[in-house]
Amino acid sequence: MKIVTLTLSPALDKSTTVEHIAPEHKLRCSTPRLDAGGGGINVSKGIQRLGLASTAVFPVGGSNGRLLVELLMHSGVVVEAVEVPGETRENFSVLETGTGFQYRFTMPGQSLGHQEAETCLEAVRRLRPDILVASGSLPPGLPETYYAKVAALAKQIGARLVLDTSGAALQAAAHEGLYLLKPNLGELSALVGVEKLEMNQVDDAAMEIIHRGTCEVVVVSLGPHGALLATRDGFVHVAAPIVEKRSTVGAGDSMVAGMVWALGQNKPPLEMAQVGVACGTAATMNPGTELFRPDDVWRLFDWIQTFGKRYRFTDF
Ligand SMILES: Nc1ncnc2c1ncn2[C@@H]1O[C@H](COP(=O)(O)OP(=O)(O)OP(=O)(O)O)[C@@H](O)[C@H]1O
Ligand SMILES: [Mg+2]
Repeated sequence: MKIVTLTLSPALDKSTTVEHIAPEHKLRCSTPRLDAGGGGINVSKGIQRLGLASTAVFPVGGSNGRLLVELLMHSGVVVEAVEVPGETRENFSVLETGTGFQYRFTMPGQSLGHQEAETCLEAVRRLRPDILVASGSLPPGLPETYYAKVAALAKQIGARLVLDTSGAALQAAAHEGLYLLKPNLGELSALVGVEKLEMNQVDDAAMEIIHRGTCEVVVVSLGPHGALLATRDGFVHVAAPIVEKRSTVGAGDSMVAGMVWALGQNKPPLEMAQVGVACGTAATMNPGTELFRPDDVWRLFDWIQTFGKRYRFTDF
């Protein structure tokens, strides 16, 4: 099964640590670590860790772009980079070791022209994926309808589209129709036009999306509460095991990676959501931008299969 990820706002992630953050002083940081980042790119890295190949399509520019490509290829992901003018953004995060606080500085995505965005779509079309993952925010320059266009393309080429984004871009694509949505609580609230959903309203809201008839599967991620899976057959809550949390950075992308891996193995929706929760939770056990360790994933997955369904959603 061919898996392709699409990232319109890739980033070179630079992370470091410092004992204490204070104004005016020189802050002596540790040697920085560089990672290839951005929604779909993280998903490709996660799938790779679980032993499946994927191709990552994304725009790149300048020396940050070259470095990003090199890092990603080094991790074994097949790269389909679209050269664009300008420089790929660099995000910066600092862990203050004295407090454990993490400061994340996110730069604006490199703006993308109409023609370059079309070239990314052309690359996807040419690659003929069975599963297409679109993840992350849209960069400046692209209309909010871009993911709806991606959804239309997926239908045209017979690919199952998995989408993880927010705001108006999510709204437009959900309206166009796709296979799987992974909103968090805030994103689901916006999708159904409610300011903030309470936990006991999540099942109704997810089923409302399903009954609109445009999305086959909705997996609402609920942070430490795991996820709610909704399909035409109904909904079920998948509880997350309690683990020692170190950093939730990358939990959402890891969850999507787990679900796409399961889809690639033709697993049924419940198992897909369970692998997703296992990967998301495993990601929280690692510090910083580290995704997850496969042995943590499978240990947590065993727990989820054994105990995860004993907790009914209404217990929360
Ligand atoms: N504190 C936690 N304890 C256990 N599991 C967690 C925790 N936080 C996140 N997870 C796992 O990760 C999954 C995705 O997390 P979350 O719901 O926070 O996604 P998100 O809001 O999209 O995150 P992101 O900020 O990465 O986009 C959850 O469904 C859960 O399985
Ligand atoms: Mg998210």
